[in-house]
Amino acid sequence: DGFPAEKLFNQGYSYTYDDVIFLPHYIDFPTDAVNLSTKLSRNVPLSIPWVSSPMDTVTESYMASAMAALGGIGIIHSNVTPSEQADMIRSVKSRRVPILSSPVFKAPDSRIVDEFDSNDVPFVLVTQSGTQKTKLLGYIARSDWLGLKDKEIKLEEIMRTDANVCVPWDYDLGQIDDKLKKEGRDFVVVEKEGGEVVDALTKEEVDRVKGYPKLGKGTVGSDGRWMVGAAIGTRESDKERLEQLVKAGVDVIVLDSSQGNSVYQIEMIKYVKRTYPELDVIGGNVVTMSQAQNLIKAGVDGLRVGMGSGSICTTQEVCAVGRGQATAVYKVSSMAAQSGIPVIADGGISFSGHIVKALVLGASTVMMGSFLAGSTEAPGAYDYDEKKKCRVKKYRGMGSLEAMAKGSDQRYLGDTAKLKIAQGVVGAVADKGSVLKLVPYTMQAVKQGFQDLGASSLQSAHDLLRSKTLRLEVRTSAAQVEGGVHGLTSHEKKAF
Ligand code: XMP
Repeated sequence: DGFPAEKLFNQGYSYTYDDVIFLPHYIDFPTDAVNLSTKLSRNVPLSIPWVSSPMDTVTESYMASAMAALGGIGIIHSNVTPSEQADMIRSVKSRRVPILSSPVFKAPDSRIVDEFDSNDVPFVLVTQSGTQKTKLLGYIARSDWLGLKDKEIKLEEIMRTDANVCVPWDYDLGQIDDKLKKEGRDFVVVEKEGGEVVDALTKEEVDRVKGYPKLGKGTVGSDGRWMVGAAIGTRESDKERLEQLVKAGVDVIVLDSSQGNSVYQIEMIKYVKRTYPELDVIGGNVVTMSQAQNLIKAGVDGLRVGMGSGSICTTQEVCAVGRGQATAVYKVSSMAAQSGIPVIADGGISFSGHIVKALVLGASTVMMGSFLAGSTEAPGAYDYDEKKKCRVKKYRGMGSLEAMAKGSDQRYLGDTAKLKIAQGVVGAVADKGSVLKLVPYTMQAVKQGFQDLGASSLQSAHDLLRSKTLRLEVRTSAAQVEGGVHGLTSHEKKAF
Protein backbone atom coordinates (compact mmCIF):
# COMPACT_ATOMS: atom_id res chain seq x y z
CA ASP A 1 0.00 0.00 0.00
CA GLY A 2 1.40 3.44 -0.86
CA PHE A 3 5.02 4.17 -1.76
CA PRO A 4 8.17 4.13 0.39
CA ALA A 5 9.78 7.58 0.53
CA GLU A 6 12.81 6.31 -1.35
CA LYS A 7 10.66 5.47 -4.38
CA LEU A 8 8.32 8.47 -4.18
CA PHE A 9 11.13 11.03 -4.07
CA ASN A 10 13.15 9.51 -6.91
CA GLN A 11 10.84 10.06 -9.86
CA GLY A 12 12.00 13.46 -11.06
CA TYR A 13 9.30 15.53 -9.34
CA SER A 14 9.85 18.30 -6.82
CA TYR A 15 7.22 17.86 -4.11
CA THR A 16 6.03 20.43 -1.60
CA TYR A 17 4.60 19.44 1.79
CA ASP A 18 1.07 19.79 0.39
CA ASP A 19 1.81 17.44 -2.50
CA VAL A 20 2.40 14.41 -0.28
CA ILE A 21 0.47 12.61 2.44
CA PHE A 22 1.43 9.82 4.85
CA LEU A 23 -0.66 6.72 5.19
CA PRO A 24 -1.58 6.07 8.84
CA HIS A 25 0.25 3.25 10.61
CA TYR A 26 -0.38 1.47 13.94
CA ILE A 27 -0.93 3.13 17.36
CA ASP A 28 0.31 1.39 20.52
CA PHE A 29 1.05 4.37 22.83
CA PRO A 30 -0.81 7.49 24.03
CA THR A 31 -0.19 10.96 22.50
CA ASP A 32 1.66 12.18 25.57
CA ALA A 33 4.16 9.35 25.20
CA VAL A 34 5.49 11.03 22.04
CA ASN A 35 8.88 12.55 22.79
CA LEU A 36 9.94 15.25 20.33
CA SER A 37 13.31 16.05 21.91
CA THR A 38 15.97 16.56 19.27
CA LYS A 39 19.15 18.37 18.23
CA LEU A 40 19.51 21.68 16.43
CA SER A 41 23.11 20.87 15.54
CA ARG A 42 25.73 18.36 16.64
CA ASN A 43 26.09 19.79 20.16
CA VAL A 44 22.87 21.74 20.77
CA PRO A 45 20.09 19.56 22.21
CA LEU A 46 16.51 20.88 22.30
CA SER A 47 13.41 19.53 23.99
CA ILE A 48 11.16 20.63 21.12
CA PRO A 49 12.10 20.74 17.41
CA TRP A 50 11.32 24.42 17.05
CA VAL A 51 13.54 27.25 15.74
CA SER A 52 12.64 30.86 14.97
CA SER A 53 14.11 32.28 11.79
CA PRO A 54 16.84 34.95 11.71
CA MET A 55 14.59 37.59 10.16
CA ASP A 56 14.21 41.15 11.39
CA THR A 57 10.42 40.80 11.73
CA VAL A 58 10.73 37.49 13.60
CA THR A 59 13.68 37.01 15.95
CA GLU A 60 15.08 39.56 18.33
CA SER A 61 15.61 39.05 22.06
CA TYR A 62 11.97 38.58 23.13
CA MET A 63 11.31 35.89 20.51
CA ALA A 64 14.61 34.16 21.31
CA SER A 65 13.82 34.22 25.06
CA ALA A 66 10.38 32.75 24.42
CA MET A 67 11.81 30.05 22.13
CA ALA A 68 14.38 29.06 24.79
CA ALA A 69 11.73 29.10 27.53
CA LEU A 70 9.65 26.68 25.43
CA GLY A 71 12.57 24.30 24.84
CA GLY A 72 13.35 25.43 21.29
CA ILE A 73 15.79 28.12 20.17
CA GLY A 74 15.77 31.48 18.43
CA ILE A 75 18.36 32.69 15.92
CA ILE A 76 18.91 36.45 16.17
CA HIS A 77 19.00 38.17 12.76
CA SER A 78 22.01 40.17 11.57
CA ASN A 79 20.25 43.12 9.94
CA VAL A 80 21.66 45.38 12.68
CA THR A 81 25.15 46.47 13.70
CA PRO A 82 27.35 43.80 15.35
CA SER A 83 27.07 45.52 18.74
CA GLU A 84 23.26 45.70 18.52
CA GLN A 85 23.15 42.01 17.64
CA ALA A 86 25.52 41.19 20.54
CA ASP A 87 23.31 43.23 22.90
CA MET A 88 20.31 41.09 21.90
CA ILE A 89 22.32 37.96 22.77
CA ARG A 90 23.24 39.48 26.15
CA SER A 91 19.62 40.36 26.78
CA VAL A 92 18.48 36.73 26.20
CA LYS A 93 21.23 35.49 28.49
CA SER A 94 20.56 37.98 31.25
CA ARG A 95 17.31 36.55 32.64
CA ARG A 96 15.18 33.42 32.83
CA VAL A 97 11.62 34.64 32.25
CA PRO A 98 10.13 35.19 28.78
CA ILE A 99 8.57 38.50 29.67
CA LEU A 100 8.17 41.68 27.66
CA SER A 101 9.17 44.89 29.40
CA SER A 102 10.20 48.44 28.69
CA PRO A 103 11.04 50.11 31.97
CA VAL A 104 11.89 53.80 32.02
CA PHE A 105 15.31 54.69 33.48
CA LYS A 106 16.39 58.09 34.75
CA ALA A 107 19.51 59.53 36.38
CA PRO A 108 19.24 60.73 40.02
CA ASP A 109 19.48 64.42 39.12
CA SER A 110 16.73 64.34 36.50
CA ARG A 111 13.26 65.73 36.94
CA ILE A 112 10.75 63.54 35.19
CA VAL A 113 7.94 66.06 34.65
CA ASP A 114 6.22 64.62 31.51
CA GLU A 115 6.95 60.94 31.83
CA PHE A 116 4.07 59.97 34.13
CA ASP A 117 1.61 62.44 32.69
CA SER A 118 1.90 61.58 29.01
CA ASN A 119 2.44 57.80 29.21
CA ASP A 120 1.03 54.89 31.01
CA VAL A 121 4.29 54.38 32.92
CA PRO A 122 3.76 52.59 36.26
CA PHE A 123 7.21 53.40 37.67
CA VAL A 124 10.57 54.94 36.86
CA LEU A 125 13.86 53.31 37.86
CA VAL A 126 16.72 55.51 38.99
CA THR A 127 20.28 54.44 38.19
CA GLN A 128 23.53 56.37 38.22
CA SER A 129 23.78 56.38 34.41
CA GLY A 130 20.07 56.74 33.70
CA THR A 131 20.25 53.45 31.77
CA GLN A 132 19.89 49.82 32.75
CA LYS A 133 23.62 49.11 32.72
CA THR A 134 24.36 50.38 36.25
CA LYS A 135 23.11 49.62 39.77
CA LEU A 136 19.63 50.53 40.99
CA LEU A 137 19.63 53.55 43.28
CA GLY A 138 15.89 53.72 43.77
CA TYR A 139 12.53 54.03 42.06
CA ILE A 140 9.48 56.19 42.02
CA ALA A 141 5.98 54.86 41.48
CA ARG A 142 3.31 56.67 39.47
CA SER A 143 1.07 57.06 42.53
CA ASP A 144 3.91 58.77 44.47
CA TRP A 145 4.55 61.12 41.57
CA LEU A 146 0.95 62.09 40.99
CA GLY A 147 0.62 63.15 44.66
CA LEU A 148 3.59 65.55 44.43
CA LYS A 149 3.10 69.31 44.30
CA ASP A 150 6.65 70.20 43.23
CA LYS A 151 7.17 68.39 39.91
CA GLU A 152 10.53 70.06 39.33
CA ILE A 153 12.07 68.17 42.24
CA LYS A 154 15.11 65.95 41.56
CA LEU A 155 14.44 62.23 41.61
CA GLU A 156 17.16 61.53 44.16
CA GLU A 157 15.19 63.57 46.67
CA ILE A 158 11.98 61.63 46.36
CA MET A 159 12.91 58.14 45.15
CA ARG A 160 12.26 55.10 47.28
CA THR A 161 15.34 53.11 48.20
CA ASP A 162 14.30 49.54 48.75
CA ALA A 163 16.93 46.93 47.94
CA ASN A 164 14.33 44.23 48.48
CA VAL A 165 12.69 45.09 45.18
CA CYS A 166 15.58 43.29 43.40
CA VAL A 167 15.77 39.62 42.40
CA PRO A 168 18.76 37.77 40.89
CA TRP A 169 18.85 37.21 37.09
CA ASP A 170 18.18 33.47 37.33
CA TYR A 171 14.87 33.68 39.21
CA ASP A 172 12.18 31.79 37.30
CA LEU A 173 8.54 32.75 36.85
CA GLY A 174 7.40 30.85 39.98
CA GLN A 175 10.00 32.51 42.20
CA ILE A 176 9.15 35.98 40.90
CA ASP A 177 5.44 35.34 41.26
CA ASP A 178 5.92 34.18 44.88
CA LYS A 179 7.85 37.31 45.74
CA LEU A 180 5.29 39.63 44.12
CA LYS A 181 2.49 37.92 46.02
CA LYS A 182 4.23 37.63 49.41
CA GLU A 183 5.42 41.22 49.41
CA GLY A 184 2.36 42.72 47.70
CA ARG A 185 4.53 44.31 44.99
CA ASP A 186 3.55 45.54 41.50
CA PHE A 187 6.99 44.87 40.02
CA VAL A 188 10.46 43.51 40.71
CA VAL A 189 13.83 44.62 39.38
CA VAL A 190 16.04 41.88 37.94
CA GLU A 191 19.74 42.36 38.51
CA LYS A 192 22.95 40.65 37.41
CA GLU A 193 25.62 39.27 39.67
CA GLY A 194 27.39 42.46 40.77
CA GLY A 195 24.16 44.42 40.86
CA GLU A 196 23.72 45.92 37.37
CA VAL A 197 20.04 46.30 36.51
CA VAL A 198 18.86 43.88 33.84
CA ASP A 199 15.16 44.63 33.69
CA ALA A 200 11.98 45.30 35.61
CA LEU A 201 9.07 42.86 35.44
CA THR A 202 5.54 43.84 36.31
CA LYS A 203 2.90 41.71 38.05
CA GLU A 204 0.66 42.26 35.01
CA GLU A 205 3.25 40.63 32.73
CA VAL A 206 3.89 37.77 35.16
CA ASP A 207 0.13 37.09 35.30
CA ARG A 208 -0.07 37.14 31.49
CA VAL A 209 2.67 34.52 31.14
CA LYS A 210 1.20 32.41 33.98
CA GLY A 211 -2.01 32.16 31.93
CA TYR A 212 -0.22 30.10 29.22
CA PRO A 213 0.63 26.38 29.40
CA LYS A 214 3.21 25.67 32.12
CA LEU A 215 6.81 26.16 31.03
CA GLY A 216 9.49 23.52 31.65
CA LYS A 217 13.18 24.17 32.23
CA GLY A 218 13.71 25.40 28.68
CA THR A 219 16.87 25.30 26.61
CA VAL A 220 19.64 26.01 29.10
CA GLY A 221 23.34 25.81 28.28
CA SER A 222 26.22 24.68 30.48
CA ASP A 223 26.51 28.29 31.76
CA GLY A 224 23.00 27.94 33.29
CA ARG A 225 21.69 30.56 30.86
CA TRP A 226 19.22 30.27 28.01
CA MET A 227 20.75 29.19 24.73
CA VAL A 228 20.52 31.47 21.72
CA GLY A 229 21.83 31.44 18.16
CA ALA A 230 22.78 34.23 15.78
CA ALA A 231 23.08 34.64 12.02
CA ILE A 232 26.14 36.02 10.26
CA GLY A 233 27.22 36.34 6.63
CA THR A 234 30.42 35.30 4.92
CA ARG A 235 32.21 38.62 4.38
CA GLU A 236 35.52 39.55 6.04
CA SER A 237 33.60 41.96 8.30
CA ASP A 238 31.52 39.05 9.60
CA LYS A 239 34.61 37.73 11.39
CA GLU A 240 34.62 40.84 13.56
CA ARG A 241 30.83 40.48 14.06
CA LEU A 242 31.36 36.87 15.09
CA GLU A 243 33.96 37.88 17.67
CA GLN A 244 31.46 40.25 19.31
CA LEU A 245 28.75 37.57 19.30
CA VAL A 246 31.10 35.03 20.88
CA LYS A 247 32.02 37.54 23.60
CA ALA A 248 28.30 38.04 24.26
CA GLY A 249 27.94 34.26 24.76
CA VAL A 250 26.27 33.08 21.53
CA ASP A 251 25.72 29.29 21.57
CA VAL A 252 25.41 28.51 17.86
CA ILE A 253 26.08 30.34 14.61
CA VAL A 254 23.98 30.15 11.44
CA LEU A 255 25.68 31.13 8.19
CA ASP A 256 22.84 32.95 6.50
CA SER A 257 22.79 32.51 2.74
CA SER A 258 20.08 31.57 0.26
CA GLN A 259 22.60 29.43 -1.66
CA GLY A 260 25.08 28.07 0.84
CA ASN A 261 27.18 25.89 -1.45
CA SER A 262 29.81 28.51 -2.17
CA VAL A 263 33.51 29.03 -1.75
CA TYR A 264 32.71 31.94 0.61
CA GLN A 265 30.67 29.78 2.94
CA ILE A 266 33.09 26.87 2.89
CA GLU A 267 35.93 29.20 3.87
CA MET A 268 33.80 30.72 6.63
CA ILE A 269 32.87 27.29 8.03
CA LYS A 270 36.56 26.39 8.21
CA TYR A 271 37.39 29.75 9.82
CA VAL A 272 34.70 29.37 12.51
CA LYS A 273 35.74 25.79 13.34
CA ARG A 274 39.42 26.75 13.43
CA THR A 275 38.92 29.89 15.55
CA TYR A 276 36.13 28.70 17.89
CA PRO A 277 36.30 24.89 17.94
CA GLU A 278 33.68 24.72 20.72
CA LEU A 279 31.07 26.68 18.74
CA ASP A 280 28.55 24.85 16.55
CA VAL A 281 28.17 26.27 13.05
CA ILE A 282 25.15 25.64 10.84
CA GLY A 283 25.57 25.93 7.09
CA GLY A 284 23.08 26.50 4.29
CA ASN A 285 20.77 26.97 2.77
CA VAL A 286 20.96 23.83 0.69
CA VAL A 287 18.39 21.70 -1.12
CA THR A 288 20.49 19.02 -2.84
CA MET A 289 22.64 16.14 -1.66
CA SER A 290 25.76 17.42 -3.37
CA GLN A 291 25.41 20.89 -1.84
CA ALA A 292 25.01 19.23 1.56
CA GLN A 293 28.00 16.97 0.99
CA ASN A 294 30.29 19.96 0.34
CA LEU A 295 29.28 21.72 3.54
CA ILE A 296 29.55 18.51 5.58
CA LYS A 297 33.06 18.02 4.22
CA ALA A 298 33.91 21.59 5.27
CA GLY A 299 32.88 20.74 8.85
CA VAL A 300 29.34 22.03 9.52
CA ASP A 301 27.54 20.89 12.67
CA GLY A 302 24.07 21.33 11.17
CA LEU A 303 22.40 22.08 7.83
CA ARG A 304 19.57 24.44 6.98
CA VAL A 305 17.37 23.28 4.11
CA GLY A 306 15.09 25.30 1.85
CA MET A 307 15.31 27.51 -1.20
CA GLY A 308 12.35 29.55 -2.31
CA SER A 309 9.82 27.69 -0.15
CA GLY A 310 9.34 30.49 2.38
CA SER A 311 6.06 32.40 2.43
CA ILE A 312 7.74 35.70 1.48
CA CYS A 313 10.25 34.21 -1.00
CA THR A 314 10.48 34.96 -4.68
CA THR A 315 13.82 33.22 -5.26
CA GLN A 316 12.31 30.44 -7.40
CA GLU A 317 10.51 33.00 -9.58
CA VAL A 318 13.43 35.43 -9.84
CA CYS A 319 16.37 33.03 -10.14
CA ALA A 320 14.77 29.81 -11.40
CA VAL A 321 16.47 27.74 -8.72
CA GLY A 322 15.16 25.95 -5.69
CA ARG A 323 13.30 22.78 -4.87
CA GLY A 324 9.95 21.66 -3.47
CA GLN A 325 10.48 21.59 0.27
CA ALA A 326 9.32 18.01 0.95
CA THR A 327 11.78 16.67 -1.63
CA ALA A 328 14.58 18.94 -0.40
CA VAL A 329 14.13 17.90 3.23
CA TYR A 330 13.99 14.20 2.38
CA LYS A 331 17.01 14.27 0.06
CA VAL A 332 19.31 16.37 2.23
CA SER A 333 18.31 14.53 5.42
CA SER A 334 19.08 11.14 3.85
CA MET A 335 22.59 12.35 3.04
CA ALA A 336 23.16 14.23 6.34
CA ALA A 337 22.00 11.26 8.46
CA GLN A 338 24.98 9.25 7.20
CA SER A 339 27.30 11.76 8.93
CA GLY A 340 25.06 12.35 11.96
CA ILE A 341 24.39 15.98 10.96
CA PRO A 342 21.00 17.36 12.07
CA VAL A 343 18.88 19.11 9.44
CA ILE A 344 16.69 22.18 9.91
CA ALA A 345 13.66 22.27 7.58
CA ASP A 346 13.49 26.00 6.89
CA GLY A 347 10.41 27.75 5.47
CA GLY A 348 7.09 26.81 3.98
CA ILE A 349 5.40 25.82 7.26
CA SER A 350 1.78 26.97 7.49
CA PHE A 351 0.17 24.19 9.57
CA SER A 352 1.08 21.64 12.21
CA GLY A 353 0.75 18.98 9.48
CA HIS A 354 3.63 20.60 7.59
CA ILE A 355 5.76 20.25 10.74
CA VAL A 356 4.89 16.54 10.99
CA LYS A 357 5.85 16.07 7.35
CA ALA A 358 9.17 17.93 7.73
CA LEU A 359 10.18 15.98 10.84
CA VAL A 360 9.13 12.56 9.57
CA LEU A 361 10.87 13.14 6.23
CA GLY A 362 14.15 13.43 8.11
CA ALA A 363 14.50 16.92 9.60
CA SER A 364 15.54 17.27 13.24
CA THR A 365 13.95 20.71 13.65
CA VAL A 366 11.71 23.12 11.75
CA MET A 367 12.53 26.80 11.30
CA MET A 368 9.69 29.24 10.95
CA GLY A 369 9.17 32.80 9.86
CA SER A 370 5.55 33.55 8.99
CA PHE A 371 4.20 31.06 11.52
CA LEU A 372 5.75 33.11 14.33
CA ALA A 373 5.55 36.60 12.77
CA GLY A 374 2.61 38.64 14.04
CA SER A 375 2.95 37.16 17.53
CA THR A 376 3.31 39.20 20.71
CA GLU A 377 7.03 38.33 20.84
CA ALA A 378 7.81 39.27 17.21
CA PRO A 379 9.54 42.65 16.73
CA GLY A 380 7.47 45.65 15.70
CA ALA A 381 4.18 47.24 16.68
CA TYR A 382 0.70 46.16 15.67
CA ASP A 383 -1.35 48.04 13.06
CA TYR A 384 -5.04 47.65 12.46
CA ASP A 385 -6.11 46.24 9.07
CA GLU A 386 -9.41 47.94 8.32
CA LYS A 387 -10.38 45.52 5.53
CA LYS A 388 -9.59 42.31 7.42
CA LYS A 389 -10.78 43.77 10.70
CA CYS A 390 -7.83 42.46 12.66
CA ARG A 391 -4.53 43.56 14.16
CA VAL A 392 -1.49 42.86 11.99
CA LYS A 393 2.29 43.07 12.23
CA LYS A 394 4.73 43.59 9.41
CA TYR A 395 6.45 40.48 8.02
CA ARG A 396 9.06 40.90 5.31
CA GLY A 397 11.51 38.75 3.39
CA MET A 398 15.15 39.42 4.19
CA GLY A 399 15.65 39.62 0.41
CA SER A 400 12.96 42.29 0.01
CA LEU A 401 14.26 45.68 -1.14
CA GLU A 402 13.13 47.19 2.15
CA ALA A 403 15.16 44.73 4.29
CA MET A 404 18.17 44.85 1.97
CA ALA A 405 18.23 48.63 2.26
CA LYS A 406 19.02 48.03 5.95
CA GLY A 407 21.88 45.67 5.16
CA SER A 408 20.61 42.12 4.66
CA ASP A 409 21.64 42.17 0.99
CA GLN A 410 24.58 39.83 1.37
CA ARG A 411 22.29 36.85 2.04
CA TYR A 412 20.96 37.26 -1.47
CA LEU A 413 23.57 39.14 -3.46
CA GLY A 414 26.83 37.52 -2.47
CA ASP A 415 29.96 39.62 -2.42
CA THR A 416 30.08 41.63 -5.58
CA ALA A 417 26.63 42.39 -7.02
CA LYS A 418 26.06 46.11 -7.44
CA LEU A 419 22.43 46.24 -8.59
CA LYS A 420 19.87 45.10 -6.05
CA ILE A 421 17.18 42.69 -7.23
CA ALA A 422 14.53 41.67 -4.72
CA GLN A 423 14.09 37.99 -3.83
CA GLY A 424 11.37 38.58 -1.30
CA VAL A 425 8.34 40.70 -0.49
CA VAL A 426 7.04 42.89 2.32
CA GLY A 427 3.67 42.01 3.81
CA ALA A 428 1.75 41.70 7.03
CA VAL A 429 0.39 38.82 9.10
CA ALA A 430 -2.50 38.66 11.54
CA ASP A 431 -2.00 38.89 15.29
CA LYS A 432 -1.36 35.38 16.60
CA GLY A 433 -1.17 36.19 20.29
CA SER A 434 1.75 34.87 22.29
CA VAL A 435 4.04 32.11 21.03
CA LEU A 436 3.95 30.84 24.62
CA LYS A 437 0.45 29.58 23.75
CA LEU A 438 0.80 29.00 20.00
CA VAL A 439 3.81 26.67 20.27
CA PRO A 440 2.57 24.25 23.00
CA TYR A 441 -0.78 23.80 21.23
CA THR A 442 0.90 23.27 17.88
CA MET A 443 3.32 20.75 19.44
CA GLN A 444 0.34 18.82 20.80
CA ALA A 445 -1.07 18.61 17.24
CA VAL A 446 2.33 17.42 15.99
CA LYS A 447 2.36 14.70 18.67
CA GLN A 448 -1.04 13.51 17.46
CA GLY A 449 0.35 13.25 13.93
CA PHE A 450 3.29 11.19 15.20
CA GLN A 451 0.90 8.94 17.11
CA ASP A 452 -1.17 8.29 13.95
CA LEU A 453 2.05 7.22 12.27
CA GLY A 454 3.05 4.95 15.14
CA ALA A 455 6.20 7.00 15.79
CA SER A 456 6.93 7.80 19.44
CA SER A 457 10.04 9.93 18.70
CA LEU A 458 11.87 11.58 15.84
CA GLN A 459 14.32 8.69 15.71
CA SER A 460 11.51 6.14 15.49
CA ALA A 461 9.83 8.18 12.71
CA HIS A 462 13.09 8.26 10.75
CA ASP A 463 13.60 4.52 11.31
CA LEU A 464 10.05 3.74 10.14
CA LEU A 465 10.59 5.88 7.02
CA ARG A 466 13.95 4.36 6.12
CA SER A 467 12.78 0.79 6.78
CA LYS A 468 9.94 1.50 4.28
CA THR A 469 7.32 0.77 6.95
CA LEU A 470 5.91 4.29 6.60
CA ARG A 471 4.29 4.83 3.21
CA LEU A 472 3.34 7.95 1.32
CA GLU A 473 1.35 8.99 -1.71
CA VAL A 474 1.18 12.06 -3.89
CA ARG A 475 -2.10 13.98 -3.54
CA THR A 476 -3.80 15.06 -6.76
CA SER A 477 -5.08 18.64 -6.73
CA ALA A 478 -8.62 17.25 -6.12
CA ALA A 479 -7.27 15.24 -3.15
CA GLN A 480 -5.69 18.42 -1.77
CA VAL A 481 -9.03 20.23 -2.02
CA GLU A 482 -10.71 17.27 -0.31
CA GLY A 483 -8.06 17.32 2.43
CA GLY A 484 -8.92 20.92 3.35
CA VAL A 485 -12.24 22.34 4.55
CA HIS A 486 -14.66 22.36 1.60
CA GLY A 487 -18.32 22.57 0.66
CA LEU A 488 -19.30 25.05 3.37
CA THR A 489 -20.66 28.52 2.69
CA SER A 490 -18.67 29.81 5.66
CA HIS A 491 -16.70 28.50 8.60
CA GLU A 492 -14.49 29.65 11.39
CA LYS A 493 -11.06 28.00 11.50
CA LYS A 494 -9.91 27.89 15.09
CA ALA A 495 -7.51 25.17 16.19
CA PHE A 496 -7.36 25.86 19.95
P1 XMP B 1 8.38 31.04 6.16
O1 XMP B 1 7.64 30.23 5.16
O2 XMP B 1 8.45 30.37 7.49
O3 XMP B 1 9.86 31.13 5.59
O4 XMP B 1 7.85 32.43 6.26
C1 XMP B 1 10.91 31.69 6.32
C2 XMP B 1 12.22 31.44 5.59
O5 XMP B 1 12.23 32.07 4.31
C3 XMP B 1 13.57 32.41 3.96
N1 XMP B 1 13.58 33.82 3.58
C4 XMP B 1 13.58 34.24 2.31
N2 XMP B 1 13.67 33.58 1.14
N3 XMP B 1 13.54 35.62 -0.04
C5 XMP B 1 13.66 34.28 -0.05
O6 XMP B 1 13.75 33.68 -1.12
C6 XMP B 1 13.46 36.37 1.11
O7 XMP B 1 13.33 37.59 1.07
C7 XMP B 1 13.49 35.64 2.33
N4 XMP B 1 13.46 36.03 3.64
C8 XMP B 1 13.53 34.88 4.36
C9 XMP B 1 14.44 32.13 5.16
O8 XMP B 1 15.09 30.91 4.92
C10 XMP B 1 13.42 32.04 6.28
O9 XMP B 1 13.87 31.27 7.38
